[in-house]
Amino acid sequence: MKRLSLSIVFLATLVASAAAQSGSGVFAYFRDYNLIGNDYKFEALGVSCAKALANTTVEWRKKYGWTAYCTPHADLGEDICGQCISVTNTANGANEIVRVFDYDSCGVVQLDLDLHTSFAKIDDGNGVNVGHLVVDYEFVEPCDAVPIGPGETNVNATFAYFDVEKHNWSLSDAGVECASYLPDVSYEWLKKYGWTGYCGNVEQMPDACGKCLKVTNTETKEEVTVRIVDACGGDFHALNMDYDYAFKKIDGNNNGIRQGHLVVDYNFVECGDALENKNVHLLLPSK
Ligand SMILES: *[C@@H]1O[C@H](CO)[C@@H](O)[C@H](O)[C@H]1NC(C)=O
Ligand SMILES: *[C@@H]1O[C@H](CO)[C@@H](O)[C@H](O)[C@H]1NC(C)=O
Ligand SMILES: *[C@@H]1O[C@H](CO)[C@@H](O)[C@H](O)[C@H]1NC(C)=O
Repeated sequence: MKRLSLSIVFLATLVASAAAQSGSGVFAYFRDYNLIGNDYKFEALGVSCAKALANTTVEWRKKYGWTAYCTPHADLGEDICGQCISVTNTANGANEIVRVFDYDSCGVVQLDLDLHTSFAKIDDGNGVNVGHLVVDYEFVEPCDAVPIGPGETNVNATFAYFDVEKHNWSLSDAGVECASYLPDVSYEWLKKYGWTGYCGNVEQMPDACGKCLKVTNTETKEEVTVRIVDACGGDFHALNMDYDYAFKKIDGNNNGIRQGHLVVDYNFVECGDALENKNVHLLLPSK
């Protein structure tokens, strides 16, 4: 009997820590922190993370929308301050990365998103009327990782058929350059974003593998987030995007496929990869 109750305690602990990392169908309410009016100053805002994040700059505080994280697991405490959460509105799929500046204890996990910097960005208009959104959330990798390179503007993005479905999203089956640098990534991770070849400096290649880019069609302003999984051959200039899951998504007027390339702007962005993928690492080539 004793054994049994111990394993129940153990199991409950596991569930609690898993619950702290992600959740689905969670209510996200809004709160108006009036960040601009308060100049992003903690003294005026009275948030629980004021002490833990006292030394952060205003730029850092502005980088992501704000949220309060409310949880039954009171032990989370200040450790949670400054962490980032990827939040997806289940009603419209809109997704945003927000940062925890406030925490509280509640009966069930809920988020209190700052109205202007977080809530409004993913609301389909209905949330503000009913007072909450229903969201999926997950804590993500350190949100302040430095992007590896500058983006580019007005460059040509060509397309290729990576045949991801035929290869069941396997990097090695698809024969892409990054297969050997990203040996232990999950199927979910691979499917999360459309793939692209990155034609930048080849020496950057191992580091670029797995990074995400936000690509904007300069003509239609359509945007897509893609993941770098390949290099490009000599004739390409910027990106060589998977047709089905990347290129086509921002080629709404079909001009891209007609002329063989799109003219795009791109920037490195956070992928918002979940903590369960934190052992994603790069095998650097031996010199
Ligand atoms: C903030 O900076 C001060 C002075 O450098 C230091 O004494 C204090 O421990 C820092 N606080 C935190 C929470 O890092
Ligand atoms: C993009 O492609 C067009 C047509 O092939 C070419 O004329 C143009 O110079 C390319 N632009 C860049 C930045 O490479
Ligand atoms: C693709 O891979 C996943 C993960 O390994 C597996 O669960 C799934 O059955 C595979 N699908 C096909 C069609 O082979």
